[in-house]
Amino acid sequence: MKPLKSVNSSYPQIHPDRIPQHVAVIMDGNGRWAKKLGHLRIFGHKQGVTAVRTCLEVASELGVKFLTMYAFSTENWNRPAIEVSALMQLLVDTVEKELPELMKNNVRLRTLGNMEQLPKNARTKLEHTETATANNTGTTLILALSYSSRWDIIQAVQAIAENVQKGLISPSEISETTISNSLRTSEYPEPDLLIRTSGEHRISNFLLWEIAYSELYFTPVLWPDFTKQHFVEAILDYQSRERRFGKTSEQIGEEKK
Ligand code: FPP
Repeated sequence: MKPLKSVNSSYPQIHPDRIPQHVAVIMDGNGRWAKKLGHLRIFGHKQGVTAVRTCLEVASELGVKFLTMYAFSTENWNRPAIEVSALMQLLVDTVEKELPELMKNNVRLRTLGNMEQLPKNARTKLEHTETATANNTGTTLILALSYSSRWDIIQAVQAIAENVQKGLISPSEISETTISNSLRTSEYPEPDLLIRTSGEHRISNFLLWEIAYSELYFTPVLWPDFTKQHFVEAILDYQSRERRFGKTSEQIGEEKK
């Protein structure tokens, strides 16, 4: 990865003052990509790791503070056992192999999801990498693994209900902040931009609460084909939008003055 000189010199079209703080990505199309080439699905996942690396590289260069990647959903456990175990092995190998690069590039790794469901060796490797990168101050790469938004919402509701039962909070005091603070994503800002590849226009149980005001970007590109240029295009598209958060265009104009 090149040291960051200035966003302007490396990516002249990108406005350095409007870089999304948090980008979330639904990486889709690995299986179709592999099938098109006459390969097994896992070949697509392996190639998908290269696209993860590329995406992280450009996110770091641009100064994106948080990058959340949907690597394995709760529903993905229902895939054929051979694909699930190959994906877990790929995860273990990748996390181990990438640690020096993460350190070199000042990337902090975090996980998001029900880690208890992951095989022990995957959990151990992930914990080790999270600890080793904990003090890095560049981009935080959040790997969503065994994650679904409804899972997170359920555990949040349970935690809040327990606090109600203990008399620590009354039902009428439950606010958006109470819910946001009870989600596993509470320490991160909400995504500014959500990218989904492969031409599907779905959210697939990903960050349902958190993307209330995110800009959505859908591209037909299959994940293994997703390049630096595609990421830059998504950022440029984001920068062309007016984020109104329910207000009028005129109000936004006034606020900018
Ligand atoms: C969706 O494509 C992709 C996944 C379910 C897995 C994503 C995993 C990776 C990119 C590799 C692992 C990542 C790390 C960080 C080690 P799909 O299989 O649903 O594709 P399809 O819709 O074409 O079948």
